[in-house]
Amino acid sequence: MALPNINPTTTQSWKKLTVHFEATKDISLQKYFAENPNRFDEFSIQWEDFLVDYSKNRVSKETLNLLEELANEVGLKEAMNAYFEGETINQTEGRAVLHTALRVPEETQIYLDGLDVVPEIRAVNAKIKTFCNQVISGEHKGYTGKSISHVVNIGIGGSDLGPAMVTEALEFYKNHLNVQFVSNVEGDHVREVIKTLDPETTLFVIVSKTFTTQETLSNASTIRQWFLTHAPEEAIAKHFVAVSTNEEKIAAFGIHPDNVFPMKDWVGGRFSLWSAVGLSIALAVGPDHFNALLHGAHKMDEHFKITPFQENIPIVLSLLSVWYNNFWKAESEAVIPYTQYLRNLPAYLQQGIMESNGKGVDRKGEKVNYQTGTIIWGGSGTNAQHAFFQHIHQGTKLIPADFIGFKTSLYGEQEHQNKLMANFIAQTEALMRGKTLEEATEELNSKGVSAEEIKRLALFKVFEGNKPTNTLLIEKLSPESIGKLIAMYEQKIFVQGVLWNIFSYDQWGVELGKQLANKVLEDISGEAIAGHDGSTTALLKHLKN
Ligand code: F6P
Repeated sequence: MALPNINPTTTQSWKKLTVHFEATKDISLQKYFAENPNRFDEFSIQWEDFLVDYSKNRVSKETLNLLEELANEVGLKEAMNAYFEGETINQTEGRAVLHTALRVPEETQIYLDGLDVVPEIRAVNAKIKTFCNQVISGEHKGYTGKSISHVVNIGIGGSDLGPAMVTEALEFYKNHLNVQFVSNVEGDHVREVIKTLDPETTLFVIVSKTFTTQETLSNASTIRQWFLTHAPEEAIAKHFVAVSTNEEKIAAFGIHPDNVFPMKDWVGGRFSLWSAVGLSIALAVGPDHFNALLHGAHKMDEHFKITPFQENIPIVLSLLSVWYNNFWKAESEAVIPYTQYLRNLPAYLQQGIMESNGKGVDRKGEKVNYQTGTIIWGGSGTNAQHAFFQHIHQGTKLIPADFIGFKTSLYGEQEHQNKLMANFIAQTEALMRGKTLEEATEELNSKGVSAEEIKRLALFKVFEGNKPTNTLLIEKLSPESIGKLIAMYEQKIFVQGVLWNIFSYDQWGVELGKQLANKVLEDISGEAIAGHDGSTTALLKHLKN
């Protein structure tokens, strides 16, 4: 069974939504709130330790009903079944999409081509646990008999962003290991990391699903060469481990089979932190916290699977996002976590969301005639307030935003927490409420500003308001809640791909640049420069002169 194949714009609900949009687009959020004292109750979801308030969105119950109708018409339920049952929903690569299997409880059975995939997942998980415990306890020794103090994850894209973001997010839960990440092919980046390392006490984790990625293999080779200037060849076995699907290539690189943590091709790179790709996370926080992360993600999967659409967090967030993207023509979405621990969540989501849904061909193989993938950006609050919030408040673009906050701080600095939460809540209120010309005038007046000055300044101080936001208020930042949060966005990606009738799990769009880079590299390293346009030829000449 493949995914349904329905152009959303041909559905009845899409047509109704178009009419509904025209009829309701001038209703302000202020009006929605004024007219309905129960708006928060009707437009929020409380699930476990998550409170999702989506009442500050430009929607009515009718909007949501129509969006739900759209989800039904494009076959969302059917698509969800195909996804969770391991059908080949990544049709252009001929693969199932089963990262959700990586976090199921032990007793679960998930069949792919007649084989239960769970026992192998458990076996890899057990290997991760044993290895991490040995490294963390100091039992695993380096080539001179010293324990490991530093870990370097060598990978890029999904083999870097997920592990790096989660390791940073779980800093509070970290052990003594110093975990760093090398991703870019830039030699200076590698050298800056190497500079801080002692070969006797460092463990290198080479992570590459394909084990063919130029950046990762170059960085791994450079680091290996550097390592061998200090240590004998046999020491490699104690200091290099690899995560990949490509066992042949790992062997060719000289990694001992015992040091290989395998993964499956049905795990997409940007959804892989739950697999052995998460080894650096497990090393950083220990296997118990890593398992709690998986457990949290599984809980979100279950919520997603069984909850009616309008109480279903990832589905509601997806529907709202499609509403803004396709009817309001919003150009981007912001994600603003009010915690420094999640400062790299927007960067992580950029790969997850934009590599998945930045597609222009539908599941029929035809060019789409509507907008797909959202552009994601953001930064941590309150820093972001002093950077780009001006644009959200008073710019000309509509930028729906997710505000993510945690009720409890980890160190109990309550005064700080109160200020952080005050900003967190005040911003969504300000974005919704705005400030009228009368209010701005009155404010200036009360400060004793002259009438002439008020006339000159008042308009600059007006806030239109009416800016949509979702507020996600989570009890506490923990491995489990972070697992839930990431899985929530993963499922949002899936739903949006279904609504837009595109394939979310391939990434052909990154191939052309890779191919051309190989050709350009030949021209940089060789004598002749051939076969390029005028600009590229001139740039190459300039580089080589
Ligand atoms: O950027 C393209 C991509 O294939 C990503 O999808 C992937 O996460 C990244 O490259 C790294 O790939 P690999 O893990 O195979 O080295």
